[in-house]
Amino acid sequence: MNEVELVLTHVLNCNRLSLYLNKDMHLGKDKSMLLSLILKRRILGEPVQYILGKTEFMGLEFKVDNRVLIPRPETEILVETAISQLKQMGIASPKIMDLGTGSGCIAVAIAKSLPRADVWASDISISALQLARENACLNNVEIKFIQSDLFDALKSKNVKFDLIISNPPYVSTEEFNSLAKEISFEPELALKAGIDGLDFYRLIITQAAAYLGDNGLLIFEEGINQAVLVKEILEQESFDQLILIKDYNNIERIIMAKKGLFKNG
Ligand SMILES: C[S@@+](CC[C@H](N)C(=O)[O-])C[C@H]1O[C@@H](n2cnc3c(N)ncnc32)[C@H](O)[C@@H]1O
Repeated sequence: MNEVELVLTHVLNCNRLSLYLNKDMHLGKDKSMLLSLILKRRILGEPVQYILGKTEFMGLEFKVDNRVLIPRPETEILVETAISQLKQMGIASPKIMDLGTGSGCIAVAIAKSLPRADVWASDISISALQLARENACLNNVEIKFIQSDLFDALKSKNVKFDLIISNPPYVSTEEFNSLAKEISFEPELALKAGIDGLDFYRLIITQAAAYLGDNGLLIFEEGINQAVLVKEILEQESFDQLILIKDYNNIERIIMAKKGLFKNG
């Protein structure tokens, strides 16, 4: 749905089709007031998803507010790739870790698609985790949420995953200073990633092998022009069988790699 359709279906409490087929819909006083409040916030640049408090990801509904990044369409490619790989691996109950879960969109969508999977999700932000828990409830899935600075909370646990997935913060300092106004409503913590935007890839890649089982996979989303650089870091850390996947705009957006033989963790 486009933004106008999103707002009108919300205000009129109807589906998209009714907007076009039902010619007798009237706004009335309360709904006019609600529409006017929504438009005032939108004019100030606030993303429509925050104003409505919800968004759709992989056909599922998620609550969103300024505690979390708004799930992006590119991230659906990340999730679809991970699900397809997990199915190919043929493990009855694969163990998955979503690092930097935010709204929980990745973890929830995987858990929904693979009901027997053992899905874990972490974030450093307690407030993001609160919302992610609500989204797991809303979508009726069980996820083990943990508050952690990347892998820190796992150090004492002897746990190995079949797949570690992450859409980490990847905005460089320079890019952050020139972001569109709408993005300034989203949490800095979800965006900023050091001078070159690669800080989180370095941190995750250098630690991930210790938390991956044999044949374990690491899969990331990355920003524009970052794929080649992330590939280099993966190769330096002896990950192999690297695969790059493009998004709808032909930009290399997803990278997947297998834990190398030298990396036994
Ligand atoms: C780009 S957002 C991705 C959110 C969500 N996974 C998605 O794809 O929409 C990155 C997330 O990483 C979290 N984060 C930032 N620094 C972190 C850290 N050191 N450890 C764990 N999570 C972190 C942020 O709070 C944010 O929720």
